[in-house]
Amino acid sequence: MPVSNTKTDEARQVAEYWDRIAPEFDSIYAGNKNLLARGLDRWLRKDMYQRFDWVMRKAEELRPATVCDIGCGSGRFVSSLAKRGAQVTGLDFAPEMLNLASQLVEREGVADRCRFVLSDVLDWKTSENFDLVIAIGFWDYVANPLARLQVIHKLTGRTFLSAWPRAGTLRMAIRKVRLKVAGCPVYFWRLTDVESYLNQAGFQVESCEVLGQLYCIQARPV
Ligand SMILES: C[S@@+](CC[C@H](N)C(=O)[O-])C[C@H]1O[C@@H](n2cnc3c(N)ncnc32)[C@H](O)[C@@H]1O
Repeated sequence: MPVSNTKTDEARQVAEYWDRIAPEFDSIYAGNKNLLARGLDRWLRKDMYQRFDWVMRKAEELRPATVCDIGCGSGRFVSSLAKRGAQVTGLDFAPEMLNLASQLVEREGVADRCRFVLSDVLDWKTSENFDLVIAIGFWDYVANPLARLQVIHKLTGRTFLSAWPRAGTLRMAIRKVRLKVAGCPVYFWRLTDVESYLNQAGFQVESCEVLGQLYCIQARPV
């Protein structure tokens, strides 16, 4: 499926990759795989489930009325946050991901509290502001975070939750090779660099948890 509205070749590569593998990605959440594959996901992708639980725990504390999920993928966070009563906007530039997300929120009976935007966050023209903004499994695919963080800063009313893949792990080397073969660029981050980008974009870091291979960071706009 052609992907429009993206700025660079690299963004196009990322969007096309996620469009292609959308159902495969969603099956990590859906668990519609054989026993061995499910076991491997639970083991090798443990931090995907941990970051999901982290966001839901934070949402319980923060009780946002409005949420924006940047790079919402197949809508698993969108749906769960809407079930907790929030009005949720999910943004993604892979059309097939948004198809899955729309079907999910219909199935889960929360479509009336959800809306989806097909765009790179850089291209999204809006003056909206959300209590909570999340960008999970997103920074892996962004070469230069600052411009997108500056846009996210404008969207963020109270809290920004983000998860960043850590540099220097064994998984980093394996993912680099796997995704290069698949034609998708991938990036890994040092905590000092992430903190510096967040500060430059106008955020103050409130907490950072290391969950598996990830830095999970809560920040607020200043
Ligand atoms: C690994 S998936 C994560 C999906 C979801 N956040 C989750 O954790 O289940 C990454 C998603 O980010 C989207 N994405 C990556 N870069 C993007 C960008 N610049 N603008 C919009 N979406 C983007 C991809 O299309 C993909 O659906």
